[in-house]
Amino acid sequence: MASGRLLATVTCTAPVNIAVIKYWGKRDEELILPINSSLSVTLHQDQLKTTTTAAISKDFTEDRVWLNGREEDVGQPRLQACLREIRRLARKRRSTVDGDSLPLSLSYKVHVASVNNFPTAAGLASSAAGYACLAYTLARVYGVEDDLSEVARRGSGSACRSLYGGFVEWQMGEQADGKDSIARQVAPELHWPQLRILVLVVSAEKKLTGSTVGMQTSVETSPLLKFRAESVVPARMREMLSCIQARDFQGFAELTMKDSNQFHATCLDTFPPISYLNDISRKIMQLVHHFNTYHRQTKVAYTFDAGPNAVIFTLEDTVAEFVAAVRHSFPPETNGDKFLKGLQVTPVLLSEELKAALATEPTPGGVQYIIATQVGPGPQILDDPHVHLLGPDGLPKPAA
Ligand code: DP6
Repeated sequence: MASGRLLATVTCTAPVNIAVIKYWGKRDEELILPINSSLSVTLHQDQLKTTTTAAISKDFTEDRVWLNGREEDVGQPRLQACLREIRRLARKRRSTVDGDSLPLSLSYKVHVASVNNFPTAAGLASSAAGYACLAYTLARVYGVEDDLSEVARRGSGSACRSLYGGFVEWQMGEQADGKDSIARQVAPELHWPQLRILVLVVSAEKKLTGSTVGMQTSVETSPLLKFRAESVVPARMREMLSCIQARDFQGFAELTMKDSNQFHATCLDTFPPISYLNDISRKIMQLVHHFNTYHRQTKVAYTFDAGPNAVIFTLEDTVAEFVAAVRHSFPPETNGDKFLKGLQVTPVLLSEELKAALATEPTPGGVQYIIATQVGPGPQILDDPHVHLLGPDGLPKPAA
């Protein structure tokens, strides 16, 4: 295909988010509508992001999608739902706004290529960033300006929270059609500049229950999940919002840990039970609690999603000491110099008193590495054509 025949090519990036009030359970599997609202922090794209290029052309004969260089089955229902939804919004816009001035692009097929800047093998949730990026990029290609919650949500529920930077709430909504189940920013990226986030990548055994199937079984079998959604989360959403607004770290940290623990308790209450945490995850929890007890103050919090990796929240003035505590408890087996990635953290020595207070038998290699990051912005459009992942022929460029 000659270059210049691509009608439109757009490249965007989108962030990973980590929930501090967890989403677990759907009331509608098809529309991906949750049984409770949730709240998350958007992580900075300097450390973790998805980049997606979408191109439409008259010459494409079918929709095609490549993920990290490998072609995906475009027939997957969730991918289909996103494509259908964005085209529906584009069609709606054509008929209501400046229909005639838009290019004849709606019937054209789309090619999409997407890559993550973090190893998928690390077991970090990539679907949220991936589907948010897909929704955002397709919206730019098709000239859609509506709220994109529904498009991203149909890919993966938590993806709608990656459409914004800072602190984001996904309101569960009440309507059967899901029109009021939307994400919105509750505080901007720079609201709490001292907040730091450490992703502790734990050596994981591969086999685990995916979130979609896991939460379905929980909804069917866990009375605790029902209680959580109806009687616990509504008050927690209000409390979390006010902790964030007031930049109350202790309140934020304690509620974050309690909510992660309750989510994992609902997993154990599921029948047959699901367990995402492993021995290293539990050692990290213990380390955090011992660290906080030593300081007589909640200075660090953990949260865990559907896997054993820990995400730690702390403030700028505590990062160095906590990283040293992790290094002490989980001495790197190899590559000690590559143990910490991302933001710079000045090495400090742990006091003998703190070492004694941590009271843990070191577990060499338990934590593979740490990614140090902070709160970040929402999706971005990249203007430089060199960053496009698709070449002028509409096919993925060979990896540089
Ligand atoms: C534990 O959004 O991955 O990370 O909607 O079925 O795609 P689907 O599930 P997904 O679930 C995320 C669950 C969680 C908690 C959270 O992010 O709120």
